[in-house]
Amino acid sequence: MTDDYEAVLNVWLQTDIGGAHRGDNLQIIQNTITNGGVLFVLEEIKTKTIAGTSWITNDHRRLYLHHFGISPYFQGKGLSHLLMEKSMEFARNLKLQIKLEVHKDNLKARQLYEKYSFKYLGDYEVFIVRDI
Ligand SMILES: CC(C)(COP(=O)(O)OP(=O)(O)OC[C@H]1O[C@@H](n2cnc3c(N)ncnc32)[C@H](O)[C@@H]1OP(=O)(O)O)[C@@H](O)C(=O)NCCC(=O)NCCS
Repeated sequence: MTDDYEAVLNVWLQTDIGGAHRGDNLQIIQNTITNGGVLFVLEEIKTKTIAGTSWITNDHRRLYLHHFGISPYFQGKGLSHLLMEKSMEFARNLKLQIKLEVHKDNLKARQLYEKYSFKYLGDYEVFIVRDI
């Protein structure tokens, strides 16, 4: 993971899904993996280019899907299905529910998630304390 971190961060910045301001750093990623989560990284074998990521954290009650993204160059080729299939397989193997947040206007991602059986939970608002 250490070797790929910069490339992973680059995918997150390009797709506007992560970065230091959101509390994403190598140590935190590694902690979540040690605690039963996973970071799936999709790589183009020929060029060794990282094309996408799916980061799942585990609080042992539920799984949370974060930072699901395909870098712009690789978008529109159906590659997100590879990452979704792996992610859902991970959840099924652990027999844990899986939850995510997606912007209401992100129709592409919403349609993708619905294909994988995610159901809209209702009119909940999302709150966070960033400067703790
Ligand atoms: C959302 C994202 C991961 C989808 O990946 P992608 O490479 O663009 O999409 P794919 O070609 O793999 O298509 C996967 C599915 O997305 C949906 N989709 C793709 N393009 C779409 C469009 N223009 N409109 C609506 N749905 C669309 C479809 O359900 C499609 O499945 P299908 O091809 O079987 O119909 C990618 O666009 C992305 O990284 N976006 C920026 C980051 C982001 O918003 N992540 C989600 C954060 S919650």
